[in-house]
Amino acid sequence: MENMHRPLTQNIRPDRLFATLADYESTGGYQGLRRALSELQPKEVQQWVKDSGLRGRGGAGFSTGLKWSLVPMDDGRRPRYLIANGDEMEPGTFKDRLLLERDPHQLIEGVIIASYAIQASVAYIFLRAEYHLAARRIEHALQEARAKGYLGGRVLNSDFSLEIHLHTSAGRYICGEETALINSLEGKRAHPRTKPPFSVISGLWGKPTVVNNIETLCNVPHIIRNGIDWYKGLSRGVDHGTKLFGASGRVKRPGLWELPMGTPIREILEDHAGGMQDGFKLRGLLPGGASTDFLLPEQLDLPMEYDAVMKAGSRMGTGTMIILDDRTCPVKMVLNLEQFFAQESCGWCTPCRDGLPWTVTLLQDIIDGRGRPEDLDTLSRHTRMMGPGNTFCALAPGAMEPLQSALKFFRADFERYITGAGGG
Ligand SMILES: Cc1cc2nc3c(=O)[nH]c(=O)nc-3n(C[C@H](O)[C@H](O)[C@H](O)COP(=O)(O)O)c2cc1C
Ligand code: SF4
Repeated sequence: MENMHRPLTQNIRPDRLFATLADYESTGGYQGLRRALSELQPKEVQQWVKDSGLRGRGGAGFSTGLKWSLVPMDDGRRPRYLIANGDEMEPGTFKDRLLLERDPHQLIEGVIIASYAIQASVAYIFLRAEYHLAARRIEHALQEARAKGYLGGRVLNSDFSLEIHLHTSAGRYICGEETALINSLEGKRAHPRTKPPFSVISGLWGKPTVVNNIETLCNVPHIIRNGIDWYKGLSRGVDHGTKLFGASGRVKRPGLWELPMGTPIREILEDHAGGMQDGFKLRGLLPGGASTDFLLPEQLDLPMEYDAVMKAGSRMGTGTMIILDDRTCPVKMVLNLEQFFAQESCGWCTPCRDGLPWTVTLLQDIIDGRGRPEDLDTLSRHTRMMGPGNTFCALAPGAMEPLQSALKFFRADFERYITGAGGG
């Protein structure tokens, strides 16, 4: 029986094993694909997904149906490609891993329906290098799907054929950026491409290509199977559907939960994550992975949805929160994050290649007692120089988000190190 309120995680087993093909089919699995192929034209599938209000779960929240509708369908350019982005290297983010490891057929059905919608004949699942268990389970599930006629030539005896290849990354954060991912799939150095042209027009090997996040694609079978109104009804807010929300840090029960879009942060932290551990107080949180701005305890009643979090000065990003407690130094936390971003800079553009290591040096100097008062202005200037529009991709602007908000909200912590009053 299908769990209508928790569609994405209904098949997740408590024993950490994965949902078999039989498990998946027993809750309505592959019925969405049957419906798409027998009742809907590709453009109708695009329209359904657009009308459902599904927004990309990879971080930016772009309308999924709108993205699909930008693929030129009538100019005869083939093949078209669909890529499922499972790179998931954002610090603090582990939501796609759950879906990949524990319910691989849900993703495969989503990839097939999305490929049908844009008439792609080849799809790739691009997987983070370390996700070995997911790789084994997906490979196995792909074989099962082929054997059952869900995949391959003439899917379910229709005119639509599709092959899906699993590709494991060589292991860099930049490979999650969609055009760097495409370069990497082509066997080139993984640096981002100039946009425009956008991937939907000229992507993999110069052909129209849609790149979607794993969680995004996992929503698609449920929308097609149960309809637009059902999907809209899952939400508590303006954005539709459910979302995997997570919390890590000093909460009592760190983890992941599938909840209605628009669930307030307070409810996620207090009811699901169990509140702060004894002896720790909440000082702030990064709502959607490492590359989002801090929010403060007085903002806990914000609903977790794209525009509301943006209006409050941050981004929903991946929806997996990193909690800052009152015994963790925010300066050291930001240094830790900037070390990651500096190491992962692909080096393609100067502000990021040179600016991120400088940011790390300045933060380290401040923590080591070598900071000067003017360093805080230099750091602020860095956040502007690596802000949106000044770099080739969003890695550097994302890296600046925790820093710029820490300088605003936790300035006294930086100053204590500089004046020698003690920090950390
Ligand atoms: C540095 C960087 C890393 C990224 N990593 C990922 C990732 O691991 N997974 C992902 O889905 N999107 C990632 N993105 C966003 C992708 O470029 C792209 O927007 C996304 O895959 C589109 O899917 P969606 O529309 O379904 O959200 C990253 C972006 C940047 C700038
Ligand atoms: S911003 Fe950084 S990661 Fe992105 S292209 Fe420039 S150097 Fe590479």
